[in-house]
Amino acid sequence: MSLFDMPFDPAREAALVTGAGNGIGRAIAQALTGEGVRTVFADVNPETVAAAIKTSPRPELAIPFVGDLALAAVREALLADSEAALGRVTHFVHSASPPRREADHVFGVSHETWMRMHAVNIDAGFHLSRELARKLIKAKLPGSFLLLTSLHAGTPRNLPHYSTAKAAMAMLVKELAKTFGRHGIRVNALVPGAIAAGGFVADPALARHIPLGRLGNPADLAPMALAVLSNRISAYVTGAAIAVDGGLSLTNWFDPPELGEF
Ligand SMILES: NC(=O)c1ccc[n+]([C@@H]2O[C@H](COP(=O)([O-])OP(=O)(O)OC[C@H]3O[C@@H](n4cnc5c(N)ncnc54)[C@H](O)[C@@H]3O)[C@@H](O)[C@H]2O)c1
Repeated sequence: MSLFDMPFDPAREAALVTGAGNGIGRAIAQALTGEGVRTVFADVNPETVAAAIKTSPRPELAIPFVGDLALAAVREALLADSEAALGRVTHFVHSASPPRREADHVFGVSHETWMRMHAVNIDAGFHLSRELARKLIKAKLPGSFLLLTSLHAGTPRNLPHYSTAKAAMAMLVKELAKTFGRHGIRVNALVPGAIAAGGFVADPALARHIPLGRLGNPADLAPMALAVLSNRISAYVTGAAIAVDGGLSLTNWFDPPELGEF
């Protein structure tokens, strides 16, 4: 059997994806059902959850959950509903994040927007990861978690609520990976570059700064997400930040050289 034939074990593995109504989360959740994995599609938007499930390769494997993950009670409900539907969540993807708006610079961002960005990214990411891991460790089962961070975990975005939330998530991945590793639970960060999805209004001119010459799209993220989530393909990968950015993070004040004749 080829290494890539069966990246998951649908008899024992099941997934929860937040932000599954749109963009990168949707692409990952849909791809998981395509691999035969029962998957909870969690998002705040009921219409997009329904549409994401309807357009999945295997809609019968998808379970909808609609709720605002900024709220602690909703996170509890998500955990309870996911367990009721799946038995045990072994694979967790945290992609939910409020929209970025350029007006939310240092002096523009409101207290509520600041709090909400942190609540959905870092508070929900921490709480859901910890509670899912608690169950897996007690049951002596392996798991694999993937948190969506950003290149702006390490470089400013002019959106301080966003970059600080992503920086916190980048460290959370390392904390969780170190604590859970000996219990067979891997935790990694997926670091998208400029991906034309709902959360980022992409200026096509940005492609000039991307070594691979184009903006990304959610379909560029899903295969790598599945590879990192898979305990068969990535059994020895934890605490890693895997950039899927077309090389955008290599860009600095030096343009690539003109090669001329060589
Ligand atoms: N698109 C990019 O270029 C890019 C770059 C770096 C990092 N990321 C990260 O990747 C992830 C996905 O990005 P995207 O571009 O696909 O975003 P997106 O806006 O298309 O999708 C995010 C989803 O999260 C949901 N959501 C927002 N608030 C929520 C809440 N309170 N509770 C539940 N769900 C909520 C939204 O409804 C939406 O469906 C985000 O964490 C984002 O920060 C994206």
